[in-house]
Amino acid sequence: METALTRLVGVRHPIVQTGMGWVAGPRLVSATANAGALGILASATMTTDRLRDAVREVKSRTREPFGVNLRADATDAGDRVRIIIEEGVRVASFALAPSAELIAELKEAGVVVIPSIGARRHAEKVAAWGADAVIVQGGEGGGHTGEVATTVLLPQVVDAVDIPVVAAGGFFDGRGLVAALAYGAAGVAMGTRFLLTSDSTVPDAVKAAYLAATVKDVTVTRAVDGLPHRMLRTELVDALENSGRTRTLFQAVRRAAGFRRLSGLTWRRMIRDGLAMKHGKELTWSQVLLAANTPMLLKASMVDGRTDLGVMASGQVAGVIEDLLSCAELVARVMKQADEALWTLVRADA
Ligand SMILES: Cc1cc2nc3c(=O)[nH]c(=O)nc-3n(C[C@H](O)[C@H](O)[C@H](O)COP(=O)(O)O)c2cc1C
Repeated sequence: METALTRLVGVRHPIVQTGMGWVAGPRLVSATANAGALGILASATMTTDRLRDAVREVKSRTREPFGVNLRADATDAGDRVRIIIEEGVRVASFALAPSAELIAELKEAGVVVIPSIGARRHAEKVAAWGADAVIVQGGEGGGHTGEVATTVLLPQVVDAVDIPVVAAGGFFDGRGLVAALAYGAAGVAMGTRFLLTSDSTVPDAVKAAYLAATVKDVTVTRAVDGLPHRMLRTELVDALENSGRTRTLFQAVRRAAGFRRLSGLTWRRMIRDGLAMKHGKELTWSQVLLAANTPMLLKASMVDGRTDLGVMASGQVAGVIEDLLSCAELVARVMKQADEALWTLVRADA
């Protein structure tokens, strides 16, 4: 199926596997790429050295195009951009709106720039700055998320910008892909659905917790890092919501120390990143400190398999996903379902 997205990045199917911290590593990304969709490596939870190694590992497993996701507000975003350019990565994906300068640097080097956004005005801004496409995530999506549902946000953004729009938040099958195309999107991006594949390295116990979840077990909380964050509701989430400020802060400092070791960041850089996060938002200092909570708590589940101690970021779709397919099976199934859904429409019209 050819769309503005497949033409832009050179993939066979208009499907994106999004950059998920600790989840979207070389194995998942290369499996997605080999299945004909666009895989995006998550780099915010990697050191720059690890990022370069991970990019090379993907390249050793596939000749297909893929992307790298990074935080535009990280103080080492420039170093990461340079790695993307030097290693010839096809797509740069951003968790927050990148600056006009970063977009220009990447585009000059031939990299396709696709920021993720959660509001129409952000889409308008990055489109004006030269972004090649946007991923628009509605409120049902996993991880940090907004309030507006995909069915409302998507047509709003499609009408507002002239660049290809990729729909995210709540997609898991071929009907969703056809619905997104009907709204004027150029494809769909899925996080939770790709986390729940046999190619994802997430431990089995954690996958089992997602598969067991109903739609009502997926919640939005600010208790982890001060920002609205969609995840499975667990005893840990209840405890974080109910623990006092001092206790939460104490734990946050401990986790920040752990994250510093893992990410290779200096305290100075972490504080500068925290300040960048605080800029323009109504975050308190304790919330800024809590920022290191997300990567550490996500790692506890996504890498260490601790369903009791970790955060399990999740879209509402976890409640309707019931199987673990390989990426190749998933992409083939989505495309077959999309084909069937389109034929049903054509027959109904005849
Ligand atoms: C476990 C998990 C980790 C995530 N980590 C990131 C991240 O590091 N950067 C980012 O831009 N988005 C992140 N997200 C959001 C996803 O990239 C994607 O936009 C979202 O999952 C789409 O909604 P869906 O889960 O309904 O498919 C994460 C989502 C999940 C479920």
